[in-house]
Amino acid sequence: MKIMFDINKIIRPNIKNLKPYSSARDEFKGDASVYLDANENAFGSPLSQNYNRYPDPMAYDVKMELSKIKGVPARNIFVGNGSDEAIDILFRSFCNPGIDNVIIVPPTYGMYEVSANINDVQLKRVNLTEDYQLNLEGIAEAIDKNTKLIFICSPNNPTGNSINREDIETILANFEGIVVIDEAYINYSRQKSFIQELTEYANLVVLQTLSKAWGLAALRVGMAYASEEIIEVFNRVKPPYNINEASQKLALEALKNVKQVNDWIKEILKERDTLVLALKNFDFVIDIYPSDANFILVKTINADGIYQYLTQQGIIVRNRNKVELCEGCLRITVGTPEENQALINSLKNFKND
Ligand SMILES: Cc1ncc(COP(=O)(O)O)c(C=O)c1O
Repeated sequence: MKIMFDINKIIRPNIKNLKPYSSARDEFKGDASVYLDANENAFGSPLSQNYNRYPDPMAYDVKMELSKIKGVPARNIFVGNGSDEAIDILFRSFCNPGIDNVIIVPPTYGMYEVSANINDVQLKRVNLTEDYQLNLEGIAEAIDKNTKLIFICSPNNPTGNSINREDIETILANFEGIVVIDEAYINYSRQKSFIQELTEYANLVVLQTLSKAWGLAALRVGMAYASEEIIEVFNRVKPPYNINEASQKLALEALKNVKQVNDWIKEILKERDTLVLALKNFDFVIDIYPSDANFILVKTINADGIYQYLTQQGIIVRNRNKVELCEGCLRITVGTPEENQALINSLKNFKND
């Protein structure tokens, strides 16, 4: 039996009672010929294009395009300045500093911990199992009456694997707080997104981003998909114009080019296989973990040595040697064929001494 999720039990009282900032663009939404309401420079911008007017606070056109692609109504979408903004807003909206706690399942994406620390929210760590899956018993034991959020990253960064769907569903069905499923790498995965389950689970927040498969990391556009009542909280807490006009315009243009993105995804997956095969030949490689993402986690006999060596060659990978359950590991992003070849060529000359 599923628990009944009640947002009023978990929202911070100050947020529940918050009267949000009302911008000029919130107060007048129609079309007019003269705008003298926002203290902008009416003459223009010292650029070839004008950016003198504040952008749409709700990034509505971007949401409509996302809605078409994802099959989720715009009212269930929040667009943030990267999904990192959505993570921070979750803490600020639902976690009382110094009182509440959240659960993370390391090894995982680092920002959940940083956001918890910034917001003075206690972090409970329930490590993944040896095969990088959820420790359901450990999570059940860690939950207490002040646990507001559980973060699950799937496919997981840095391990690359997807988390078992049934295990995530067990948590969704039994936890009275919010379950955040971070799907930054979902476009590379064989698993289905949880986005279709929003009608099933009122406590579900799915994070996605345009920074990875969509190739728009510099624009800082990330999404949270959730129930209308949760999205309404996001919208109240976010800064008034969190997505700038240039990002809105360019994101909108990019979202009309799904084919290019899908072609790249196929190519990256092929390149990932090629890279795995090539890496397997090195005797300093102990293991390559199965990946559902655009990176692979590689266990080696000397992660620090290989990392240093590659850095000297101008090739930067991510050293995860000091991360729990990732001893000896490097995380390697799949690059272009030329970049991957450069990596392999360099590794041929690595001497472990
Ligand atoms: C799992 C995960 N979530 C979120 C992000 C951040 O995404 P954004 O660029 O949308 O802030 C990253 C970036 O590395 C990530 O790995």
